[in-house]
Amino acid sequence: MEIIIQPDAAQSARLVAAFIARAMRRKPDLVLGLATGSTPVPLYRELIRRHREDGLDFSRVTAFNLDEYLGIGPDHPGSYRRFMQVQLFDHINLSPGHTHLPDGLAPDVEAHCRHYEAQIRASGGIDIQVLGIGSDGHIGFNEPSSSLASRTRTKTLTSRTRRDNARFFENPADVPVECITMGIGTIMESRICLLLAAGERKAEAVAGALEGPITAMNPASALQLHPDTRVFLDEAAAGKLKMRAYYDEVFARDVFWNKLRQEDGRTL
Ligand code: GLP
Repeated sequence: MEIIIQPDAAQSARLVAAFIARAMRRKPDLVLGLATGSTPVPLYRELIRRHREDGLDFSRVTAFNLDEYLGIGPDHPGSYRRFMQVQLFDHINLSPGHTHLPDGLAPDVEAHCRHYEAQIRASGGIDIQVLGIGSDGHIGFNEPSSSLASRTRTKTLTSRTRRDNARFFENPADVPVECITMGIGTIMESRICLLLAAGERKAEAVAGALEGPITAMNPASALQLHPDTRVFLDEAAAGKLKMRAYYDEVFARDVFWNKLRQEDGRTL
């Protein structure tokens, strides 16, 4: 894993956006895996800015989101579909037919989950998967105890996750109890994973995921087995890492990132 610690989340967002923009230049029909929550919002702003100012072209890109609440429709203000429309899709030239989220109102949920997996496969697989991390270590909505080999399916949310996500709903009691999420096995098949975390609230989950044992009790720890995961942290989220000095040294010496800075022509 490559662990990149930046002074703040805005700097991380700029780096990750430059990484994605480079990948899109090389492969215009890139398949992007996207995440919801507060963490990727600065990244989405940066992608929108690049689309507007630099003409970053999403017209051939396909997007698959990690998860959706079960029992609410796309127009519900708390739905992840709505979130993605407002935070990203409405502001870039990604074709609506190329955006995919699980359907929280699917009549046959199991068949829908199988279909979602088939759609990912048919697209050629996810090239770059953007991930946040829950305060309990979840990725997507794979709560602790999720099988590390799981596929897209329904999950029951923990009360901690429902509390964490209550801010997106008018009333905390409105947060759905169940969801549909890509499995950890699904996420692990992405060619590249970009895990973003910011804030002290994430420090413990991050330290467990990166430096702890691989365990279903911290689902993000499965990424230790992924061949190309890059982790972007702000100072607070990196606060509990033991090998911090080493990660900084590796990043400073990294030829790829130094070259990207030059290619991108911006101060990253
Ligand atoms: C949510 C999402 C995850 C996200 C995580 C962190 O519940 N399902 O994909 O990474 O929890 O959210 P936030 O970025 O708001 O802290």
